[in-house]
Amino acid sequence: MLQSPKQTPLTIIVHGGAGNVSPHYHTAALQGCEAAATAGWHVLQDGGSALAAVEAAVRVLEDDPVFNAGTGSVLNADGEVEMDAGIMDGATLQIGAVAAIQHYAHPISLARRVMEASGHHILAAAGAERFAQSQGFAPVPNQQMIVPRRQEQYEKRLAAGTADTVGALALDAAGNVAAANSTGGVNFKLPGRVGDSPLAGAGFYADNAFGAVATTGQGEHIMRVGLAWRAMQALEQGTTAQQAAQQAIALLQERVPDGRAGLIVVDTAGRVGIAHCTRDLPTAYWRQGAAGPVSALRA
Ligand code: GLY
Repeated sequence: MLQSPKQTPLTIIVHGGAGNVSPHYHTAALQGCEAAATAGWHVLQDGGSALAAVEAAVRVLEDDPVFNAGTGSVLNADGEVEMDAGIMDGATLQIGAVAAIQHYAHPISLARRVMEASGHHILAAAGAERFAQSQGFAPVPNQQMIVPRRQEQYEKRLAAGTADTVGALALDAAGNVAAANSTGGVNFKLPGRVGDSPLAGAGFYADNAFGAVATTGQGEHIMRVGLAWRAMQALEQGTTAQQAAQQAIALLQERVPDGRAGLIVVDTAGRVGIAHCTRDLPTAYWRQGAAGPVSALRA
């Protein structure tokens, strides 16, 4: 009897950042996550790769001023937008990331180009921007990515009020997984500070053998435990995506008692996991068979 080709349930999951989402932004954060999940879903449904789906989803979040990524990023100590992003292809274990970049509205696409065309995995600051220019990416004035709310937060030294970092994971029809992250980092950070988001093992990981992970929260906490890698280890030991997410957060809380983080996970069966030790983590996912995205402010 002929074996039918391996079919995996198409899956996309996105998040809009772990933190305290001000009630004023609850609806907008959920709608933004749903729009991003829908963009990624259409890529998958049209036969696109998991990699293309997570890039498409994160671009939607980068364009949405509600989120701390791309346009709408928080400002650093100099009052400027300075962003990190990372992407990983679970089929090849190839990685692309950019750190401390300015002047590009879609850091996730630049991260993907680093992966595909630079011969390196991470490019930072002026070198990354020079690479972007050489690849034909159009720079934008940094001011164009600063939204009034962020300017006011900076001037009044206010807490961000919305959460940090955006991320996406996908599983495509061929069984490939991918992970993507993008962030403006943390409020008032020192110029040049790099968080977890562009770091494989801390901010993200993807491996077709087990699944994919994207983390969010305070980068300095996440790096200390290698949060994404902890969840991958759990998947490798045979847990479900939800168990992997919960185990990783429990470990963070044990080892970094004031740790502030969250993560999303997808396994090779298309099951999703969501866990956080912040109050909120807006998410949306769309799995094969569903009529639309399922969103929530908290797990
Ligand atoms: N997780 C985002 C950052 O710490 O930069």
